[in-house]
Amino acid sequence: MPDPAISIRGLKKTFVGHLSIGRIHALRGVDLEVPSTGIYGFLGPNGAGKTTTLKIVTGLLFPSEGEVRIMGRPAGDNLVRMNLGFLPESPYFYDYLTGEELVTFFGSLFGIPGKELKDRTRLLLDMVGLRGKEKLPLRKYSKGMLQRVGLAQAMVNDPQILILDEPMSGLDPIGRREIRDLILGLKEKGKTIFFSSHILADAEMICDEVAIIVKGKVVQKGRLEELLGKDVRFWDLSFKGPADAEGLPSRHVITSHEGYTMIRLDSEEAVEQAVSELPKRGARIISLVPHKASLEELFLSSIEEREND
Ligand SMILES: Nc1ncnc2c1ncn2[C@@H]1O[C@H](COP(=O)(O)OP(=O)(O)O)[C@@H](O)[C@H]1O
Ligand SMILES: [Mg+2]
Repeated sequence: MPDPAISIRGLKKTFVGHLSIGRIHALRGVDLEVPSTGIYGFLGPNGAGKTTTLKIVTGLLFPSEGEVRIMGRPAGDNLVRMNLGFLPESPYFYDYLTGEELVTFFGSLFGIPGKELKDRTRLLLDMVGLRGKEKLPLRKYSKGMLQRVGLAQAMVNDPQILILDEPMSGLDPIGRREIRDLILGLKEKGKTIFFSSHILADAEMICDEVAIIVKGKVVQKGRLEELLGKDVRFWDLSFKGPADAEGLPSRHVITSHEGYTMIRLDSEEAVEQAVSELPKRGARIISLVPHKASLEELFLSSIEEREND
């Protein structure tokens, strides 16, 4: 097994708030490992501790306790810095700069020489779909364009690891898809992506692995397909015709409208029985839809467990 890209152990962070608030335990012992390939989703509700964790990983904040190692080295280490790209949560940056100037500015912080930096900036702005907009000041960018220029900025040092804080938040469905596609493209290039999100549908579509954090503690983590399970949890069967559920394996009628009925079945045997029985009564089967657990269900049940303890 290669070294994990990021390893976080026993991470705690306590903020000293105002006297009236007291101490805020933002992280209460976070453990997770981001493997060197793939997309890792760091999911949780607002205030769970996602941004705090990402800031510690990027070396912007010191932990109160615990350890972060990136490619086997401590966070904030110079070699680590060269291999890390970061998209902050609200990348409003300096809005009088143009997109081109912003990327060039960050590139110059890494000491990339002028000509090379110019070419790279153009390449990156093309990649994120901002060709033709590079001379526009950022204050004229839409939220989606800001996220995309933020991604270009995070990529300017051609880092192996990309850390993205809520890359899809505040975007419309098209903007979200564009960012998802960009993230998938980065994965194809062999990059490690560690991103936070409270938008579960987006995470479900692209993540290989996820951790769910609630109130400063990771409550679930693992490969997405293992967490969600490959098993079907129930089936919804729709049919047209007599809606008498008598003798059927499920009397759980979900809807019945204008001769169409939908029933919910909870085992393969029940499905078989219904599928053979219904036509005998003159019903015509319209559809049979299997349902697996969704990330949202997993997420909500994790939060409930946590709130109850
Ligand atoms: N600089 C700070 N000072 C005091 N409290 C903070 C600070 N930054 C974050 N917090 C608190 O820490 C908790 C976690 O915040 P954050 O990491 O931003 O969560 P998330 O990104 O998951 O929404 C919240 O309760 C937040 O109010
Ligand atoms: Mg946050």
